[in-house]
Amino acid sequence: MWQLPVTIAVVLLSQGIYSRNTGDPGFLPSPSINWMRGVAARMSRNNNNEQTMDEGPFDRVMYNNSQVWKACGTDDKFQQELAKLKNNNMIAMWGGNVTCLDIMVRAPYVKKLNESFGKSKINFEVIIENLQDAIDNENPPVETLELDNRQGKKPSNRMYLGRPKTYRQVEADSVNESHRLSWQAYHRLTDIHGYLDYLGETYPQICSVKTIGSSVQGRPIKMIKISNGRAGNKAIWMDGGIHAREWISPASVTYIINQIVLKYDSDPLLESVDWYITPVLNPDGYEYSHNVDRLWRKNRRGSGFCTGTDLNRNFGHKWGGPGASANPCAETYRGNSAFSEPETTAVRNFISQPNIPWKAYLSFHSYGQYILYPWGFDSSVPADYRELDRVGQKAVAAIQQVGGPRYALGSSGKLLYPATGGSDDWAKGTMGIKYAYTLELRDNGRYGFVLPAHYIQPTAAEAYAAVRAIVSEV
Ligand SMILES: *[C@@H]1O[C@H](CO)[C@@H](O)[C@H](O)[C@H]1NC(C)=O
Ligand SMILES: *[C@@H]1O[C@H](CO)[C@@H](O)[C@H](O)[C@H]1NC(C)=O
Ligand SMILES: *[C@@H]1O[C@H](CO)[C@@H](O)[C@H](O)[C@H]1NC(C)=O
Ligand SMILES: *[C@@H]1O[C@H](CO)[C@@H](O)[C@H](O)[C@H]1NC(C)=O
Repeated sequence: MWQLPVTIAVVLLSQGIYSRNTGDPGFLPSPSINWMRGVAARMSRNNNNEQTMDEGPFDRVMYNNSQVWKACGTDDKFQQELAKLKNNNMIAMWGGNVTCLDIMVRAPYVKKLNESFGKSKINFEVIIENLQDAIDNENPPVETLELDNRQGKKPSNRMYLGRPKTYRQVEADSVNESHRLSWQAYHRLTDIHGYLDYLGETYPQICSVKTIGSSVQGRPIKMIKISNGRAGNKAIWMDGGIHAREWISPASVTYIINQIVLKYDSDPLLESVDWYITPVLNPDGYEYSHNVDRLWRKNRRGSGFCTGTDLNRNFGHKWGGPGASANPCAETYRGNSAFSEPETTAVRNFISQPNIPWKAYLSFHSYGQYILYPWGFDSSVPADYRELDRVGQKAVAAIQQVGGPRYALGSSGKLLYPATGGSDDWAKGTMGIKYAYTLELRDNGRYGFVLPAHYIQPTAAEAYAAVRAIVSEV
């Protein structure tokens, strides 16, 4: 049994599938189930010789009876206790703020931790009783939507040939025969990329689709540019899906794309911008989070238990400092070096092209309902932070105006915790893009990463409102 993984790894290496991996640390994976799952994934690719290697019929990581707790405390003992549990892999950190943390408690430890928290007088509240149930109920099967559509249960012709007629039709987001994307379910990568290609073909005057790089496993990283080509337009960058499990991010970014394209002719604000939008920056991780482990965060660099680099710790501004781990097993593994990953490199190469008049860099994450600006690397703020704060306040207000919750605004190092290697720090600190923001979308810890699909529309609509508010100020 121990021979098997080694042999497979050698075969794959000799075929050059992991040729980009040569610089990986020689970390020995533990003989865990995850490692075997990783091997199964690779075998399935190898046998079928397909790029979609993670789509084989191998076991999903299950979260039956795992729970999510909100635990509150401020003293050192609380922090130390949680750090210990995390290092022992009994819990995983999800989110929270300086006083309350959302932790995922793995099923075998629920009882034990309940007792030990009781003894240490750590207050907690159960947010999700059975995480697997929450995962199973998060997303309606896309097939169901299509069936409804064919049976005429939902209005479907939101677009006419050429241009849309009214806003209402845009809002009737049912499945279109021409592409498979909807904003009623979380979709797979092929649906998202198929939608971008569809826009490129349907609206060639304003939409062009470009592959700006490819992932560790060779998936394309697609970007859509929406522009009328007018000189003097502002250039705005948006990305989604840096973190695989934050499904609401690609869903919201594609919603924003849809809004921009369909309202383009009737809205001077939209026309005054060259939009550069990459909805899924981490396509391998995204697919892996659909196929294998719903809670996968990193990319799919390497293999085994310690697979993956946290792309939002891999950007090259003050890379390698606090809040980014040097341990490949950590969820916040920073990678071998700044821009060691093809996904982050693709962003760097595109954004650093000369003569693009960048005005804003917007990166979409979840969750927590924050609008964050630099710096993330420590709790200091840039000299012009008042301007970032002023524009951020406009976004906060715009979200509330469309019925959304009140997002918290501030610099990420101060409001949350210091973390180095984030994309927004790089965009501002290295590229000099003045208005760099990370938007942490819904929710506030009720569902966390497993946000049911019926929240896509309201969340994405408020994200779009925030984008408009920011763009009109920069
Ligand atoms: C976990 O839950 C799923 C349904 O959510 C069920 O099919 C499966 O049998 C459960 N597995 C275990 C080990 O309880
Ligand atoms: C942190 O989160 C908790 C629970 O969601 C909330 O009650 C508290 O007000 C928050 N604290 C801060 C400082 O935002
Ligand atoms: C923790 O233990 C108490 C007392 O036995 C019990 O009432 C409660 O349901 C337990 N909570 C969890 C999350 O297991
Ligand atoms: C899909 O969109 C195209 C044009 O964008 C339109 O011609 C077609 O009728 C739509 N189909 C459905 C089923 O909505």
